[in-house]
Amino acid sequence: MYTQPENRSQAEKFTLATLAKMKAAGEKITCLTAYDASFAALLDNAGVDLVLVGDSLGNVIQGHATTVPVSMDDMVYHSRLVERGLKRAFFMVDMPFMSYPTPEIALSNAARLMQEGGAQMVKLEGSGHQAEIVQYLSENGVPVCAHLGLRPQNVHKLGGLKVQGRSKPAARKMLADALLLEKAGADIILLELIPRKLAAEITAKVKVPVIGIGAGANVDGQILVLYDMLDITPGRRPRFARNFMDGAGSPHAAVEAYVKADSVASLVTAGTVPASRPLAPATAIPFSAAVLRSSACQRTLTRLHSMPPPQRLYAAARTSHLAPQTPRCYVRCGYRRFLASGFALPWLVKCVMAAILHQNTVSTDS
Ligand code: KIV
Repeated sequence: MYTQPENRSQAEKFTLATLAKMKAAGEKITCLTAYDASFAALLDNAGVDLVLVGDSLGNVIQGHATTVPVSMDDMVYHSRLVERGLKRAFFMVDMPFMSYPTPEIALSNAARLMQEGGAQMVKLEGSGHQAEIVQYLSENGVPVCAHLGLRPQNVHKLGGLKVQGRSKPAARKMLADALLLEKAGADIILLELIPRKLAAEITAKVKVPVIGIGAGANVDGQILVLYDMLDITPGRRPRFARNFMDGAGSPHAAVEAYVKADSVASLVTAGTVPASRPLAPATAIPFSAAVLRSSACQRTLTRLHSMPPPQRLYAAARTSHLAPQTPRCYVRCGYRRFLASGFALPWLVKCVMAAILHQNTVSTDS
């Protein structure tokens, strides 16, 4: 009666309880999307804790501009594929656009994802007014992840993919929605593209694990679209998604690097709240932790540090191959050292001077 349902190392299979324990212990939950069995197995073997079949498959697999055309049949099909590749990771599947307009329709579609697709949890793009649906699913034994913030299924209503929760009333409403959905039975909250302070506040106030994407580092776990972090997504890559293929050599190594990254801060860019345009061309490198950690930037910084101060200032100011990031990285390093040691004020001043010098040089040059 109480044996595990399948004979495949179920002892190691992640459950909601595992994720809750991770939150309680302050362990970061590593999540990625997958859409087929091979990648699912790769992620599972690399130690990804949670795998999502996202309706982002509409973009990255099917080539649509939005997730709106994705159907229930598409989600069930890809869930089946992914489920075959997973042994350990917790398995979550998206409910596609218009698959949860009422509690009853939501339940019958969630049942398909669990029974036919093997999902352990469904995710729906929710706000407070979905509380009734979440409650109905939860009362019927369906684990639910409530996706707040940017909800890409609303793209046509929003008029684009934009940062959410920027104004005070919008932030207050999102926090209230998160608490309401948790009360209704949501077992995980996912926050997409919101200010990091708001994400941190929500994470501190709800008891369930909070997974972020473009929501800063102070959440319980990070998720990225697999094809973004492997730099496969054609055209534009979200600016918060670091390219883990950079220097990795293979997709397996890239995913391992993602899993092994010692803190979520290194998974996302420091300026995780993009300005008005959340999507930037993959070639445009924003000033960020990712830039700071990039090998080119690190090499430049090492080179600068090995120079005597006057030459260092001049070189920092003249550095062009990472311009304008390098001097700003330089300032940032100085600031960090200053905070860490309390003795680096002269160094910080030099760094600021280098940046000013650089700005002048750039404007003179251009
Ligand atoms: O569809 C998806 O891949 C998602 C992630 C972006 C969280 O919802």
